[in-house]
Amino acid sequence: MRILLTGAGGQIGHDLIGTLVAAGHEVTPTDLAPRPPSHAHAGGEWQRLDVTDAAAVTKLFTEVRPELVFHLAAILSARGEADPRLAYDVNQTGTWNVLEACRALHVGRLIFTSSIAVFGPPPSGPLPDPTPDDVPLHPTTMYGVTKVSGELLCAYYRARHGVDCRGVRFPGLISAAMPGGGSSDYALFMYVDGVRKGAYEAFARADTRIPLMYMPDGVRALLELAMADRERLTRTIYNIAAMSPRADEIATSVRRLLPDAQFTYKPEAVRQGILDSWPKALDDAAARRDWGWAHAYDLDAMTDDLVPRVRRMLELGATLNTH
Ligand code: SER
Repeated sequence: MRILLTGAGGQIGHDLIGTLVAAGHEVTPTDLAPRPPSHAHAGGEWQRLDVTDAAAVTKLFTEVRPELVFHLAAILSARGEADPRLAYDVNQTGTWNVLEACRALHVGRLIFTSSIAVFGPPPSGPLPDPTPDDVPLHPTTMYGVTKVSGELLCAYYRARHGVDCRGVRFPGLISAAMPGGGSSDYALFMYVDGVRKGAYEAFARADTRIPLMYMPDGVRALLELAMADRERLTRTIYNIAAMSPRADEIATSVRRLLPDAQFTYKPEAVRQGILDSWPKALDDAAARRDWGWAHAYDLDAMTDDLVPRVRRMLELGATLNTH
């Protein structure tokens, strides 16, 4: 299948490209930035693409003629609060441009990556725990606002123009790739700094609890949703869940492998505020029912797999990924 990825230089692209290439697909990874060294292994012919540039999106889609698009380009929550205009341009206008290109060029299928950041505390009281798919959405960040809008646009383009757009609301994703700009990054840095420094001061409280997922599960979710029969899907966008450990429970899990690692907690107001506005856990019953979603990694299984990978990544000299 001919598959195009936007935002391929980010944390999801790092793992998704390689999986798609290994499965024999013809993959075109695209990003505003050149291929990062950390993605060198992944394969596919990298193309520069700025999703905010409508003409460039249409031109590249016309050349590549993808049958399936994974729209990953986005500015994450914390970086988006530092630069809301950039977050609006990339997340909002970028999604519009990609949907328009899919409509005009009859792209068969579009996968949208939404997020727990679409949720926020409703005026009527706290979010239900776990939080189901259909609750009033009150995002507190520009990232969340644009993801809500992206979800609605996906449903609109599907109903109005027949673009087969479908998506997941990802928990915070953890993998052996440097993240950047997310509020959930404290979780990955417990692994990265636990390995490289033997210590990490988290920007979140010890009792912070949000939905998290190990990247191999996240990549599999995207592939399974992309390949699911349309008739089985009762929704456009699905909650998916794996685990919801507290920050200090992640520390305990990491210390099983790195007994000397020290973890301390110094909450930083903006990111802690964002984390506190998100659900503590997601109810993903619809995904499990409609397309058989099931996570494979719990916290300790993730830790066992991830610590050696982080060690390898650091030995290879990873640099901070700013996507
Ligand atoms: N992980 C993202 C963030 O922290 C949420 O989707 O912004």
